[in-house]
Amino acid sequence: MAELVITGLHVDVETEHGPKEILKGVNLTIRTGEIHAIMGPNGSGKSTLAYAVAGHPKYMITSGSVMIDGVELTELSVDERAKAGLFLAMQYPVEVPGVSTSNFLRTAKTALDGEAPKVRTWPKVIASALETMELDPSFSGRSVNEGFSGGEKKRGEIVQLDVLNPKVAILDEIDSGLDIDAVRMVAEGINRYAAQGDRGVLLITHYTRILRYTEPTHVHVFVDGHVVASGGKELSEELEIDGYDKYLKAARS
Ligand SMILES: Nc1ncnc2c1ncn2[C@@H]1O[C@H](COP(=O)(O)OP(=O)(O)OP(=O)(O)O)[C@@H](O)[C@H]1O
Ligand SMILES: [Mg+2]
Repeated sequence: MAELVITGLHVDVETEHGPKEILKGVNLTIRTGEIHAIMGPNGSGKSTLAYAVAGHPKYMITSGSVMIDGVELTELSVDERAKAGLFLAMQYPVEVPGVSTSNFLRTAKTALDGEAPKVRTWPKVIASALETMELDPSFSGRSVNEGFSGGEKKRGEIVQLDVLNPKVAILDEIDSGLDIDAVRMVAEGINRYAAQGDRGVLLITHYTRILRYTEPTHVHVFVDGHVVASGGKELSEELEIDGYDKYLKAARS
């Protein structure tokens, strides 16, 4: 099972003028085997949703619930949420100077599995994941994301997804800044992950291109802190042509 259920989620961000509400009642259910895409204008709160679900301390959940397979995440630490099966690829991946990609993933994998991966086979696991994403083997020894190009960071997130193999993956603009071939490569990585069956994917994107390769089962329009419309893949094609005007007008009225 890999079911992510978000119910009535309200989230504030701390500003210098006090708390400001960004998420205004998000409801979203991703069932096992589904790929959901969220599209929405800049500043509508998509990344806030991703961060709040993952447990970033800057975002305060004021009400609502986030569950993976019946386990409530909102009271858990970031690590505990990861242990419950959640993975977040951030819009702006964080650099971790001094920690090699291989060691970082080994520590994360050990925490998730409750036992360390075998020393003998570990380098092969990393090498194979890097090769699939067409990243040079030297990335294994490089500090996490440090000095990586924009596209290399995004490919690196898929390496992490591949190695950690969580229940539910939230991928925030994983397709931004990728070259033409890399979009396909990243999409194939997502498809490989989803094809295991008992996995859930939430893909936040501005572009229909990645959705053509990943075949989302559901597409949601996100405006002003909540989901305002849901449909199938055709909804993303409609947005590509018409933009968000209709939804923004409805939100204002
Ligand atoms: N510290 C802060 N003070 C004021 N506003 C903030 C603060 N942090 C975040 N916000 C606002 O929260 C809103 C939601 O931001 P968020 O990053 O979630 O948007 P997004 O939908 O991911 O946009 P994009 O498509 O550009 O990535 C934005 O309007 C942003 O300016
Ligand atoms: Mg964002």
